[in-house]
Amino acid sequence: MRIGIIGTGRMGQALAAVAAEKNYSIAYQIGRFSPELVESAEVDVVIDFSHASQVPNIVEVCLSRDIPLVTGTTGWYAALPHLQSFAQRKPSARWLWGGNFSRGILLMKVALQALLSLWDKFGDWEALLLEAHHRHKKDAPSGTALELQKVFSAVKAIHSLRVGEIVGEHKLILSGSGEEVEILHRAHDRRIFAQGALWAAEWLLSQPYFVGSFEMALGVRVSS
Ligand SMILES: NC(=O)c1ccc[n+]([C@@H]2O[C@H](COP(=O)([O-])OP(=O)(O)OC[C@H]3O[C@@H](n4cnc5c(N)ncnc54)[C@H](OP(=O)(O)O)[C@@H]3O)[C@@H](O)[C@H]2O)c1
Repeated sequence: MRIGIIGTGRMGQALAAVAAEKNYSIAYQIGRFSPELVESAEVDVVIDFSHASQVPNIVEVCLSRDIPLVTGTTGWYAALPHLQSFAQRKPSARWLWGGNFSRGILLMKVALQALLSLWDKFGDWEALLLEAHHRHKKDAPSGTALELQKVFSAVKAIHSLRVGEIVGEHKLILSGSGEEVEILHRAHDRRIFAQGALWAAEWLLSQPYFVGSFEMALGVRVSS
């Protein structure tokens, strides 16, 4: 698999390292999107871990050129309806996005979906989400926190902490009278996201057409 990487920051570097270990070839790695470069380079797939402001351009250029695209960047979801309808008009579009490519967060979403079916019997309980990330993170709340809230709509508030070099923590607190349940996911290493993105890219290349999320690719039904 020949990859074009957009993103030279923490995630871009983790992705390049894991891709090299897996003997994938990296055609280019850029921080700032260049339509000319992306249109002219020969790649099997583009993987984007950059900045929300670039996502609409990257999607439009890649899909117009039939270049499969995996979007790992977060913070652009207000543009999703527009981009999704743009993509769905392209008969051979291959575009997969994911706010969190870790398997642990996927498990957490599936677990939360199961909990939700009981939640209406817990009228006196409250649900709160805490997320903590490194001080360089641009968006708050995190894309993952927003996704978890979509799955578990009972979450009444999300609190974000930006400190030090925390890779990523998401904790759901369910609080009732005299008791409490906590569900915590802690990412220790960015490699987990890189591995998930590469799995997503391989999967996307096996599809004739796909416009959807990481969860959809895995067949996990997560309502939104
Ligand atoms: N899906 C997942 O599993 C997952 C996991 C972790 C992170 N993420 C997301 O991946 C994205 C990248 O994270 P990161 O930690 O690698 O970020 P980062 O270290 O800050 O790197 C950001 C990259 O985006 C480029 N960029 C382009 N336009 C930019 C702008 N206007 N402002 C800032 N940077 C810009 C930067 O280029 P320059 O160096 O030229 O500034 C750099 O290459 C974020 O959206 C993050 O939330 C997703």
